[in-house]
Amino acid sequence: MMHPIYMIVAVDEHLGIGKAGHLPWKLRKEYKYFRDTTRKTEDSNKQNMVIMGHRTWDSLEPEFRPLPNRRNVVLTRHADLAVDGAEVCNSLDKAIALADEKTEKIFVLGGGQIFKEFINDPRLTGIYLTKVHQTFDCDTFFPEIPATFGQPKKIGSDEENGISYDFLFYGFI
Ligand SMILES: NC(=O)c1ccc[n+]([C@@H]2O[C@H](COP(=O)([O-])OP(=O)(O)OC[C@H]3O[C@@H](n4cnc5c(N)ncnc54)[C@H](OP(=O)(O)O)[C@@H]3O)[C@@H](O)[C@H]2O)c1
Repeated sequence: MMHPIYMIVAVDEHLGIGKAGHLPWKLRKEYKYFRDTTRKTEDSNKQNMVIMGHRTWDSLEPEFRPLPNRRNVVLTRHADLAVDGAEVCNSLDKAIALADEKTEKIFVLGGGQIFKEFINDPRLTGIYLTKVHQTFDCDTFFPEIPATFGQPKKIGSDEENGISYDFLFYGFI
């Protein structure tokens, strides 16, 4: 069964996405955009699936996970890992294969390792990328975006705490 697969990410001016296991910034409205985009379905009988690396799962506050109204899948190579409220998989292919007729879209949430492993995969439909117009001290980065995606489309923009950002989309909706 084929489902569209999107990445969704917020990057700084140098493609930085994380620092010491957390987001480098706190942008409330950007998080709301992430939440709305990953939850929204055309068909109210379906849900989206979100796939994330073990470290990204760990970075979520325990009271905010699993991400509600989405099917949560966590990638780990530790077969015995139990994660409350999420399914566990030891490969991206197996995680994608979990999507069924109740799944509308798949969102790959990161982090750095997972984005790097999937960025050149031909199954990647598009990338929702928020460009934060500032440079933060980061230790984790988003990979280079393949030239085949061409120029992104600007979906919108916002600003908070003196930080401006653009909502971009790479690919064909
Ligand atoms: N700005 C953003 O939009 C954004 C989005 C997401 C995350 N982040 C940030 O990114 C950072 C986390 O990224 P990260 O690169 O350190 O870690 P990550 O990609 O979230 O998770 C890495 C872990 O995933 C598992 N894994 C990786 N590849 C796998 C595979 N092919 N099969 C099965 N399991 C696999 C391993 O878990 P085990 O060790 O359990 O085997 C590995 O340690 C944090 O700072 C987070 O806040 C930012």
